[in-house]
Amino acid sequence: MSQNNLVFWICLIFIVPHIKAAYDHYRLPNALEPQHYNLRILTHLNSTDQWFEGSVKIYLLARESTKNITLHVAHLKIDGDRTSVRSDQEINCITNVETNDIYNFYTLHLCRELEKDQIYQLEMHFESRLNNSLSGYYASNYTDTDTKEVHHLAVTQFSPAFARQGFPCFDEPAWKSTFNITLGYHKNFTGLTGMPVIECQTHENLENYIWCDHETLLRTSTYLVAYSVHDLKNAVTEESKTFNRVVFRNWMQPKLLNQDVISTEMAPKVLAYFENLFQVNFPLKKVDQITVPTHQFVAMENWGMVTFSEERLPLNQDNYLKQKDGFAETVAHEFAHQWFGNLVTMKWWNDLWLKEGTSTYFSYLALDALDPERSRGELFIDDNLANFFEIDSGRNLTAITKEVKGPDQISGQFSPYVYKKGSLIVRMLHKLLGDEAFFQGIRSFLKRFSLGNVVQDDLWNSLEEAAIQTNVISPDFNLSRAMDSWVLQGGYPLVTLNRDYKTGKMTLSQSRFYGGKDLPIESLCWWVPLSFVRQNQPDFKKITPQFWLECPSSSQVLELPNLPTPNEWIILNPQVSTIFRVNYDKQNWNLITESLKNDANFGGIHKINRAQLLDDIMAFAAVRLQKYDAVFDLFDYLKKENEFLPWQRVVNKLNRLGALLRGQEAKDFKIYMQKLLNALYKRFPKFAGIITSSPAIKDMAFANFVYSQSCRYHVGDCTNQAKILVSSHRNGSQIELPSDFQKTAYCSYLEVGGEMEFQEIFALFQNTTDATQRRILASTLGCSRNFQNFEQFLNLTLQSEEKVNSECYRLAVQTALNREYIVSQTGNYILSHAKIMGEKFKEMELTPLLSSFATSLQSPEELENLNVHLKDLKEFKKPLQKALDRVQTNQKWQKDCLADFKAALRKRI
Ligand SMILES: *[C@@H]1O[C@H](CO)[C@@H](O)[C@H](O)[C@H]1NC(C)=O
Ligand SMILES: *[C@@H]1O[C@H](CO)[C@@H](O)[C@H](O)[C@H]1NC(C)=O
Ligand SMILES: *[C@@H]1O[C@H](CO)[C@@H](O)[C@H](O)[C@H]1NC(C)=O
Ligand SMILES: *[C@@H]1O[C@H](CO)[C@@H](O)[C@H](O)[C@H]1NC(C)=O
Ligand SMILES: *[C@@H]1O[C@H](CO)[C@@H](O)[C@H](O)[C@H]1NC(C)=O
Ligand SMILES: *[C@@H]1O[C@H](CO)[C@@H](O)[C@H](O)[C@H]1NC(C)=O
Ligand SMILES: *[C@@H]1O[C@H](CO)[C@@H](O)[C@H](O)[C@H]1NC(C)=O
Ligand SMILES: *[C@@H]1O[C@H](CO)[C@@H](O)[C@H](O)[C@H]1NC(C)=O
Ligand SMILES: [Zn+2]
Repeated sequence: MSQNNLVFWICLIFIVPHIKAAYDHYRLPNALEPQHYNLRILTHLNSTDQWFEGSVKIYLLARESTKNITLHVAHLKIDGDRTSVRSDQEINCITNVETNDIYNFYTLHLCRELEKDQIYQLEMHFESRLNNSLSGYYASNYTDTDTKEVHHLAVTQFSPAFARQGFPCFDEPAWKSTFNITLGYHKNFTGLTGMPVIECQTHENLENYIWCDHETLLRTSTYLVAYSVHDLKNAVTEESKTFNRVVFRNWMQPKLLNQDVISTEMAPKVLAYFENLFQVNFPLKKVDQITVPTHQFVAMENWGMVTFSEERLPLNQDNYLKQKDGFAETVAHEFAHQWFGNLVTMKWWNDLWLKEGTSTYFSYLALDALDPERSRGELFIDDNLANFFEIDSGRNLTAITKEVKGPDQISGQFSPYVYKKGSLIVRMLHKLLGDEAFFQGIRSFLKRFSLGNVVQDDLWNSLEEAAIQTNVISPDFNLSRAMDSWVLQGGYPLVTLNRDYKTGKMTLSQSRFYGGKDLPIESLCWWVPLSFVRQNQPDFKKITPQFWLECPSSSQVLELPNLPTPNEWIILNPQVSTIFRVNYDKQNWNLITESLKNDANFGGIHKINRAQLLDDIMAFAAVRLQKYDAVFDLFDYLKKENEFLPWQRVVNKLNRLGALLRGQEAKDFKIYMQKLLNALYKRFPKFAGIITSSPAIKDMAFANFVYSQSCRYHVGDCTNQAKILVSSHRNGSQIELPSDFQKTAYCSYLEVGGEMEFQEIFALFQNTTDATQRRILASTLGCSRNFQNFEQFLNLTLQSEEKVNSECYRLAVQTALNREYIVSQTGNYILSHAKIMGEKFKEMELTPLLSSFATSLQSPEELENLNVHLKDLKEFKKPLQKALDRVQTNQKWQKDCLADFKAALRKRI
């Protein structure tokens, strides 16, 4: 293409800007397909001024002829005089511009039609401030620890719908294009994009400024484009053992350089692990990892330039830290995205789970593969299961796949629900199909749609093909239909299994499980895979379904090929591969309970099933499908239970019930908990000795859980041990106390202690500059029993403008609401400061606070109080609805179940 030979059409340009647009469908029109972007961004960063200016030339293929161009623009000042549309032959012109603020559309009306199958170039010039909103191309900064100087930097966060704030673009995931990016900046800085630099030239007129061209980025969605101009330092350059020998660099502010930053060490390994697992090569030559001082999320998987939040970075040299595991999970998650999301992308945000559910699940596999000793993936999965069975039993549930329109709804899709339930759906497929069929299907899915876009059906079809080929399912089984029933509706089924002990036949039926309040009967159903385990052959690894419970459904009568005898149990759903609850007839429950109590090795029942049996029976008692007597009877087996998962599940659920008890029942409950925990507590080393005799690293999480619950219920000498531990930790700063134990010990110290202890820890909190340490101390302050003391802290942190303080406030409130002594005062405090909280926190953060508060509420006055304070605040709309539901569930439990619970409890203390 040579510009000199062109015949230019000269044309009068009338720009009548900002007429409201007629076009108001939420998706861009299909007439034009962006194929390539040439993007030039000049970044200005000095102490007084941070802004950028740039131009974009978009190569468009007209799929249909049209006289208008609609694309996305948000918060950019467009220089209308310099907007042009042309082909190689001619220049078009623009008659007027329309905008649509809801969907950020910017529509150019042209003088002449763009013709079908022709390529056009749209060029636009624009500028904007680098904002403080952590989205688009935004400003961040850090203060040098030595010079105290503020260093400014600029970095992008384009996901999910913020690329339009960085440059005019077709900001939908399906419009994949290639990108040539040229960055201009002052020589003091480093400029990064997803691709390596080709060459740099001096700027034509700005002194000490350069322009650097970067290699062409492979076909990608706009939300994955990234660039940054900064003066961070590269801690280390490392090559990964991948096919392309991908080179990693790790950018961070100078004070972090000698710290042990998890992503630096882990990323090259995890990338190689996934490349091998998926058998599709990672296509880029380099990845820059940037630890950004401020970030809207924990991390972002941009092609070639992955960003992490410095604020979320756990830095202590701990050998065990829950936050650290969380961060490791994040690193693995971002690199799983390189395949699920980056290489193969959902067409639209309704199918977000296709990248988030998969990446979440594969990150668990990576954690277990990189460090099998610790079974971290398994713990995450169990957390998800516990969480899922709880939250998905409410009403008004949306499906993980749902229609989303504007930018707010798109952002709203990124909910824990989509990530967690999504990961369980992927796990379900893995367990049901088995390694061979599952990975064959996953690999062919990735190969087939590489650099393309997909919908849910594409995944189902790839897996179905593989499963048929490997004879895991029969050719006439419709896997898509079965899986749709799990992702296109919310909730999950309760399967009821009744055995006829004479004939050996089983009757199975399903219904939607609701956890509490009276709810309308809905005739929802699922395709439920049925795999049975029998006592005489307790093989919990054989998961491939023997039958399916169909949908639409009526009850089904089944006969197993090798009939179980009447005196052996049957357990459905080995390893809880699929998300449903099972209620058995009384006899079968008895057989299970006896086996758990009396058989060596719990009759071979898998630990995830043990956890689930406990969870199920408690859920059934709360809706009167079981008696609490049967529940406590089952709990008897816990005396022997030596695995974390069942203990964690049952104690957390018991704590929830404990929050509803008052007076004598509350006392009885504490006695019961002491008894329950006593033997377990004794199995672990003395809490104060943890520094010298730490348990094996794989037992750390379990140990910490046992100490925290034992101290909470004053089991044995736990609180005293905690006190000793705190004082030795305080007196000798050289003592390394893993943060989780620190939290547990300080919490007990504060709860048992008084004014002096509070002021001591509060001073420590105010004095420390380390963000992680501040968070730890803050969350323990919520364990105080004295609200006036706690209020000092709340006043201080709520008024603070600093983000870390807001987070500390939230963590402390969460702790206080999850315990017992100052729940109502803390609850009232958040209600009377709801407005300011609504401004500071996201819905996702407010929801757990309000839910925790609601956990203990049950009177009509309390319900009313919640309503009065929050009903007019729009940020609280959904959290309030959930909280009110919770309170009504509590009321129902009190009315229907308390007497049964009380009587069963009495018998056991
Ligand atoms: C910062 O940049 C602006 C222009 O972008 C310039 O006017 C101003 O003088 C600069 N300030 C300093 C301190 O360099
Ligand atoms: C843009 O052009 C198409 C025809 O190509 C037409 O259907 C559509 O209404 C136009 N949009 C606007 C906003 O005028
Ligand atoms: C540094 O960034 C924070 C957070 O975006 C912002 O509030 C603050 O004003 C910035 N500091 C300077 C000196 O620009
Ligand atoms: C570049 O660095 C020099 C030396 O550190 C400093 O004096 C100057 O102000 C910096 N310029 C910009 C634009 O940051
Ligand atoms: C993009 O950059 C490559 C060089 O990296 C160049 O060959 C190509 O022509 C550029 N594309 C466009 C459309 O300018
Ligand atoms: C839940 O559903 C009911 C009935 O359909 C409706 O009245 C209520 O507003 C919904 N609540 C939420 C939070 O969507
Ligand atoms: C606060 O920190 C300073 C410097 O690290 C230290 O000297 C002082 O003792 C600390 N005060 C408290 C109350 O911990
Ligand atoms: C917290 O602030 C409120 C109102 O601003 C005040 O009434 C209360 O006394 C303060 N509490 C403490 C402990 O400082
Ligand atoms: Zn993700």
